[in-house]
Amino acid sequence: MLRRLVVLALIAAVIGVGAFWVVTIPATVPAGALPQRTANLDNGKTMFLIGGCASCHATPGQDDKTRLGGGFGLKSPFGTFYAPNISPDPRDGIGKWSEADFVTAMVKGTSPEGQHLFPAFPYTSYQHMKWDDVRDCSPI
Ligand code: HEC
Repeated sequence: MLRRLVVLALIAAVIGVGAFWVVTIPATVPAGALPQRTANLDNGKTMFLIGGCASCHATPGQDDKTRLGGGFGLKSPFGTFYAPNISPDPRDGIGKWSEADFVTAMVKGTSPEGQHLFPAFPYTSYQHMKWDDVRDCSPI
């Protein structure tokens, strides 16, 4: 009887771990899901402003809040998260990203390397944005 319970508990644990593994696989937006379009820069500015991107990504102490060099420290019980540089610079920023990489980060919280981003980046708040709105506010 006890042996049977142990076997059932092990099977339930394996199924639970398997289900957890499947639902937490980093999701991506494929490039093919983004049809060709011309960005609407006015809309992009609105999305950038209401998204509050500069509040974390503008470098502290800098007057121009549209230059997104990062460096702002977000203190948390897990330690301090520093907002990264998301300028179009190909070396220091995200200039080498594809548009699909950017949309993926914004709505799926997955990096171009296929890793989960920390939710200190509030992608959970951006995940229901229309993809066209996300594309309009892309810095790249
Ligand atoms: C509350 C602060 C905060 C706000 C607001 C915020 N971000 Fe971030 N963002 C972060 C942090 C922290 C990270 C780093 C996450 C990580 O490394 O896992 C990040 C990461 C990113 C990344 C991935 C960069 C990389 O190199 O991996 C992109 C792209 C990004 N943010 C874009 C935006 C955009 C666009 C907005 C506005 C719509 C925005 N963020 C608003 C804090 C913020």
